[in-house]
Amino acid sequence: MDKVTIFGAGHVGATTAFYLALSSSVEVALVDVEEGRARGLALDIEQSLQYTDSCSRLEGGADPGAVADSDMVIITAGHPRLPGMSRSDLTSRNAPIVTSIARETARSAPGAVVVVVTNPVDEMTYLAWKAGSFPERKIMGMAGVLDTSRFFCFLNRIASRPASDVEAMVLGTHGDDMVPLVDWSRSGGESLSESVEPDTLAEVVERTRGGGAEIVSHLKSGSAYFAPAVSVGVMAMAILTDTGDVLPVSAFLGGEYGISGLFLGVPARLGRGGVAEVVEFSLSDGERRMLGRAAEGVRKRVSDLPDGLF
Ligand code: 2OP
Repeated sequence: MDKVTIFGAGHVGATTAFYLALSSSVEVALVDVEEGRARGLALDIEQSLQYTDSCSRLEGGADPGAVADSDMVIITAGHPRLPGMSRSDLTSRNAPIVTSIARETARSAPGAVVVVVTNPVDEMTYLAWKAGSFPERKIMGMAGVLDTSRFFCFLNRIASRPASDVEAMVLGTHGDDMVPLVDWSRSGGESLSESVEPDTLAEVVERTRGGGAEIVSHLKSGSAYFAPAVSVGVMAMAILTDTGDVLPVSAFLGGEYGISGLFLGVPARLGRGGVAEVVEFSLSDGERRMLGRAAEGVRKRVSDLPDGLF
């Protein structure tokens, strides 16, 4: 049985554990500074499986050493966004948490594939990569799958075609520089920019970019968790079962799309080793420009991270 350790038993971590435990038979270690919460939720999830075919086993606790021998590590620990906060406002609070988890993972589970969920995700993925000295292909951030689920959701609400006719993706950062692909994405074989009325498409794009903040504004004391958990669960299943699916993830770029030395949302083929390859879509000039702008934003924010964190 594969072992997955999830750091953070908040709503995203716990819902991810539930999704993975139901989707497959896996061993899940749920780790949280609140020991009782991690233990209680792990028991609750394992008990929920008794009427299903899943043989998943769950353990919860506060000891980060539980990560030993994991095949995959999912980092959700950190402070959530509150109304009025951007994801970047979380950098100084979440950086030390992510750094220490990355170091423990590198020590105790050096072969694991690491998926970072903690915000701001592109910067936290870079930080975890540096702190743990992980191979570039074995670590990635979760954002594009979530942003794409929001893009699909809003497109489906205005759709005149069945959802199966729509192929769409969101790249870039998990923030203001998100890049919903309106030229590359297709509905019934036509690009969205040709098939959807411009004002309607602009509304869909804006609502996708603000999808996380919209939910924060309703919840007031936390952020979204069902769609984030399913998104990381979909990535985890693609990796553990070696599907080769191409999903948008925050992956290390070494020259693809003309960008190097940082993590950014791009299409990537996922497999047992993590990112098997970054896939270069044929983007329009406008989409490439937006991706370049997103990369410059991440580069600036990463260069502002204090050296001591690495
Ligand atoms: C979101 O977009 C929390 O970043 C997460 O909902």
